[in-house]
This record gives sequence, C-alpha cells and structure tokens, in this order.
Amino acid sequence: MLKGKQILLIVGGGIAAYKALDLVRRLRERGAGVLGVMTPAARQFITPLSLASLTGGKVHEELFSLTDEAEMGHIELSRAADLVVVAPATADLIAKAANGLANDLASTLLLATDKKVLMAPAMNLRMWLHPATCRNVETLTQDGVLFVGPGEGEMACGEFGPGRLSEPLDIVAAIETALRKDTRIPLPQGSLFGKRVVVTSGPTHEPIDPVRYIANRSSGRQGHAIARAASAAGAQVVLVSGPVAIVDPPGVDTRHVETAREMLAEVEAAMPADIFIAAAAVADWRTEAAGASKMKKGAAGAPDLRLVENPDILAAIGRRTAERPRIVVGFAAETDDLLANARAKLARKACDLIVANDVGEGTGVMGGLRNQVHLVDAVGTESWPSLDKEEVARRIVARLAALIGEQSSGGPRS
Ligand SMILES: Cc1cc2nc3c(=O)[nH]c(=O)nc-3n(C[C@H](O)[C@H](O)[C@H](O)COP(=O)(O)O)c2cc1C
Repeated sequence: MLKGKQILLIVGGGIAAYKALDLVRRLRERGAGVLGVMTPAARQFITPLSLASLTGGKVHEELFSLTDEAEMGHIELSRAADLVVVAPATADLIAKAANGLANDLASTLLLATDKKVLMAPAMNLRMWLHPATCRNVETLTQDGVLFVGPGEGEMACGEFGPGRLSEPLDIVAAIETALRKDTRIPLPQGSLFGKRVVVTSGPTHEPIDPVRYIANRSSGRQGHAIARAASAAGAQVVLVSGPVAIVDPPGVDTRHVETAREMLAEVEAAMPADIFIAAAAVADWRTEAAGASKMKKGAAGAPDLRLVENPDILAAIGRRTAERPRIVVGFAAETDDLLANARAKLARKACDLIVANDVGEGTGVMGGLRNQVHLVDAVGTESWPSLDKEEVARRIVARLAALIGEQSSGGPRS
C-alpha cells in the first residue's frame, strides 16, 4: 500500500519531534520514500543529520535557499509528493496553515501544495484545548486537511490529557487511509438534503461530588464523525455531545452536556427529527444523590455510593408515539455476546438499526481511531471490516440516506 509512495514529511518544533524519526523508519520499512522538511524550531529538538540519515536524502530547511531552489523549487517540492504529512504539527504550524501564512518553507509548502495534507498535532493540552487552536483545527478540517490524534496520556510537561503525538504506527495507518483512493464513499449529492439529523456522542459524566464523577472511555470520535458525515451529505445536524476533548464539527449545531439527564433533555429539545443516531456512551447509572461538597476520607470508611438507573435516551426516542424520527439508530458497545445483545437491544429499544461493536479489552475501539462494526436490523446482520471511524461514519450515513430515500419513494425497507 505504501510501496513506491512519496511522503513529504514536515517536522515541526515540538518536544515530540524525535518520534518523527521513528515514523520515517516505519514508512521506509513499508517501501515509501520520505522527503524531509524541518522548521528552524524543529532543529532545536532533532538534528537535520538524523532526519537525513533516516530519509536517505537531503533535508530541506530554508525557503530562501539558492541551492534548494536550483535543485527543486519550493513549489515543485510540495507537488512531487503523494501526501504531505506534518508530524509533529505544532500549534504554530496549525495556526499558520489555517490562516494561509507563508513566511517560511513549511508554511509555504502547505499553502502551495495540491496534495492531501495529514497533520499529527502534538502540544501541551492547554494549547490544544485553547479556543484559538480549536478554531484553527476546525478551519483546516473544513479546508479538507486530515488529522490523526492527538492521543491522550501523560505529557512531557508532566500534565495529563489530550495533546500527545499519535504513535508512529497509528500515523502510518492514517497515512495509508489518506492515500487510499476509495477512502471516500461517494454519497449521492445532497442525499440527506433537507433532513434533520440528531446525533449524540461521547461519554456522560455523572457527578459523585463537585470534583468526582463516573465516566467511561468514549472519545466521541465516532459520533462526531457521523455528525460531520451527515452534515456533508446535506443534513441539518444537531450534535448533543458529552464531555470530549475533540473539536465541534464545523457547520453542526453542537450542544454540550455533562450528564445523561441533560443529554436526554437536549435530545428532546432538538426533536422533531428525521433521523436520530444515539452514538453516545451514556452512563447506565448515576449516584442517587451527588454530594454537595467534596467527600472526605475519615473514620467512617469508604462512602456507600448508591446507584440509580439513568433515563434510557434511545428507548425514549424509539418508543415515541408522537413525532418519532423516521429512523432511530442505536449503538451497542458490548464485551460479550455482541450480536445476541445487539439483536435484543434492537427490539427492546424499538429502533430500526443497531450498530454493534466489540469494545472488549485489546480491541482499542473505545477512544481509538478505528472501529469494526456489525449492522443489525430486522432483516439480518451485516459485518464490516475494521475501518477508520470517519469511514464507518460515511458508510452509515450513505446507508441511512438510501434507507430514507426508499421510505420516501415507498420502496423496500432493508
Ligand atoms: C521545550 C519546548 C517544547 C515545545 N514543545 C512544543 C510542542 O510540543 N508543541 C507545540 O506546538 N509547540 C511546542 N513548543 C513551542 C514551539 O517550539 C514554538 O511555538 C515554535 O515557534 C514552533 O515553530 P514551528 O511551528 O515553526 O516548528 C515548545 C517549545 C519549547 C521551548
């Protein structure tokens, strides 16, 4: 898949620059050629010599370099590649690219290229979550720039959260997806045009006291990708999102909530809709009474946390008698008896389609970039291979568009 492909790798000036060296090794192992470009700041972290040794060729650093221009001009450099990859993509490079700045070699290449661009951001979590960076990432997404990561975990600065550079093999997987020609399932133009779609995404947080909560590992990536794909297919989309560390999809009316009860209230408020997709990992239980102040350790021992059931958002919408959406889609994240549980859920929650996925230990689905799903409906089960979550989203949206089209024309229901 990567054999014979040319990757133009721009290395930004971040602490994770050393991982770009491993990325080069992984790409070359797979038969890809890599042309290295470094920003002046990147040279503070790794040397041009190490990058050149691994790419096996010249590393470009300067915009105004007579020899570089004579050998291969900066415009040519950006066009000779099959894909432009920025790793690590610093907050600075992202900001420059989002605003069309071209005052050094890296930003000029990003503005001049006619190839797809894949960015792997890495920065301190406050930089990543800053509204300016969120705006810039949103702008670039709208411009068609692809992103992989950042991941979550302990950072070089000692803080914990989103902002870590994705692992080199995850970047390789994202590069393969980006290079695949058929990565976008062609949707009939405006196939959900005029339709209203409500999507839930992410986890919910159920408070224990003002500082603690019950949560789960959902990242919101699948739900957000579905909202993005539905919007791209022409739908008017409302996304009700639990607490996530990813940006709101552009052009989507995103409403942020914390708890299951807040999510239900927002979903109800967003009705009526043509399609409802419940992709959020809603907590089944909450504490009976969240403490008004922080619980303290003491002689009384561990607190007795009594749990009560949360409202069932999917069933509440599926069982509506008035203004039920024409299509109600649920997600079943299971660790055991996946398909049997999904089929039971289809009936119990009165929905039209269940997207079932195995989230057992080692699958990497919860919080990860890929998903392997089975579509369960009244007719049967269809299993898809492991795919990028964006791809899963596009396929689900294409399927819903076909389904709603059949309903409108009185055709068969699959
Ligand atoms: C020790 C150190 C580590 C840094 N790590 C990062 C980082 O991980 N991500 C980032 O966006 N900026 C980081 N910066 C700031 C960038 O180096 C700075 O914004 C620089 O101008 C980026 O230049 P470039 O985007 O042209 O590579 C760091 C700075 C220092 C001093």
